[in-house]
Amino acid sequence: MLLEVDRISVAYGAVEALKNVSLSVSGAEIVAVLGANGAGKTTLLRAISGLVPLKSGAILFDGKKLHELPPHGIARLGVVHIPEGRRVFATLTVEENLNLGGYGCSKDEVKKAKDRVFQLFPILKERRKQLAGTLSGGEQQMLAIGRGLMRSPKLMLLDEPSLGLAPLLVDQVFATIVEINNQGVPILIVEQNARKALEIADHAHILEVGRLVLSGPARELAADERVRQAYLGGATYERRLRAKESRAH
Ligand SMILES: Nc1ncnc2c1ncn2[C@@H]1O[C@H](COP(=O)(O)OP(=O)(O)OP(=O)(O)O)[C@@H](O)[C@H]1O
Ligand SMILES: [Mg+2]
Repeated sequence: MLLEVDRISVAYGAVEALKNVSLSVSGAEIVAVLGANGAGKTTLLRAISGLVPLKSGAILFDGKKLHELPPHGIARLGVVHIPEGRRVFATLTVEENLNLGGYGCSKDEVKKAKDRVFQLFPILKERRKQLAGTLSGGEQQMLAIGRGLMRSPKLMLLDEPSLGLAPLLVDQVFATIVEINNQGVPILIVEQNARKALEIADHAHILEVGRLVLSGPARELAADERVRQAYLGGATYERRLRAKESRAH
């Protein structure tokens, strides 16, 4: 396994945000962690990136103990974290944001990486001289992902890339995530959008107030009655969906 999260617990003072959580990501897959607000999804990614300390447990990446490394040491291993809320440098242009993502790489590497990002996101190429703060929400999410791609990631951690995006943009962002994975980048994605995440993931886990309550192949979870009720809206959701579809015809 490329990434092994082994029985980790994380606490913020008296609040136990993660309790004994274990999961793994192999060399080529997309793994999704689903859960409601406050379940601990962001905390899990922050623990892997070294941004919060473990209370117990271990995190191994390619056999190395991530939990003993500082955040920059973890980043240097090729673990790229795209945080919640699409953080871009608003007063810099699209291209300057990408260049910053490639900081420390040679000019040639930066150019190659930028070409790759522009191929994935043609809109960013069109907007490369535009200030990032004036991009739409979806474009900013693409830029945040693009910036992460500037360093040829060995593992990409994605925190709710669909948050606040219109359905069409959500589809576009998820399609790109699949394409990035097809190019050989393993992905760990945390999402509240269970339906979409289960569509693209190989394996998935359900996190409820800090504990993993269900894990398995994404296909099996998508068919699981408990998951359908709690995360896919169950019968109510299906009814609404059908009503919407029949209106469309
Ligand atoms: N810096 C912090 N200090 C204290 N408590 C925190 C801190 N960060 C998170 N928490 C608490 O830890 C729990 C898990 O938070 P986390 O942000 O990981 O959830 P999440 O699943 O990402 O939620 P969301 O879907 O809203 O982004 C929550 O109860 C939250 O209030
Ligand atoms: Mg979060």
